[in-house]
Amino acid sequence: MTKVDSTLAIDPYYDGVPAYMTEVYDWAYVDPKWVRALDHNWVVRVLLFLNDQRLMRAYLNEIKEGMRVWQLAHVYGDLVTRAARKVGPKGAFHLTDVTPVQIEHGERKLAGMDWTKVIRSDAADFTGDAATKYDLICSFFLLHEVPEEKKHEIVNHMLEKLPKGSKAVFVDYHNPARWQPIRYILKVVNHYLEPFAEAMWHNEIQHYAKKADRFVWKKRTFFGGVYQCVVVQHKE
Ligand SMILES: C[S@@+](CC[C@H](N)C(=O)[O-])C[C@H]1O[C@@H](n2cnc3c(N)ncnc32)[C@H](O)[C@@H]1O
Repeated sequence: MTKVDSTLAIDPYYDGVPAYMTEVYDWAYVDPKWVRALDHNWVVRVLLFLNDQRLMRAYLNEIKEGMRVWQLAHVYGDLVTRAARKVGPKGAFHLTDVTPVQIEHGERKLAGMDWTKVIRSDAADFTGDAATKYDLICSFFLLHEVPEEKKHEIVNHMLEKLPKGSKAVFVDYHNPARWQPIRYILKVVNHYLEPFAEAMWHNEIQHYAKKADRFVWKKRTFFGGVYQCVVVQHKE
């Protein structure tokens, strides 16, 4: 009889999670104990130096009732619930994430809203439901967390899935002005905790797109350049 070596069993919370997530962000996004402790509005508020509401509004203001929306990754606090409520039962709200515990949290927040779906997928290869043409696709603070190659893959995949007339919205870090003291705090944070974030200081988001010139890129910055919102549409 074959014996099963229980030490080889894969913890379901880690199964299929990309290496950068377990190596860099285990405590922040993978380990369920930490995720339970961190999934609160006040955490997002502190992490974003009190800019949480205006950055969320940059995304939420683009949502109109009845839209079909794809949000690439779960976010702590109530952002996904607010986005889904704004879409409403006449639309569709699809949330993807690559990490099992984030899927659990997303499902709990969206329970009972039958126009929503929570789907485990890497945002870079989410195929979705072929019949759904999204009106809005949003990456909210995802790009700065992934390695360079993944940034390219995610941006290109979003744009490939973007129908004419629809919008892609990126809310993320940006290159802070030299007078902005937060710049120097983030330098230290990036050095110790966010190895893929500083690329957002040096590259415009369109740098990651293969066919950038086919799109119109509208950028706004916030808080002395610490953050950006970029809205992308096909050229007419
Ligand atoms: C949106 S980002 C950061 C958001 C923000 N810091 C917050 O307050 O939650 C974090 C999420 O991205 C997810 N994630 C990381 N890489 C991903 C990928 N390739 N595809 C989909 N989700 C991904 C993580 O599992 C995590 O839930």
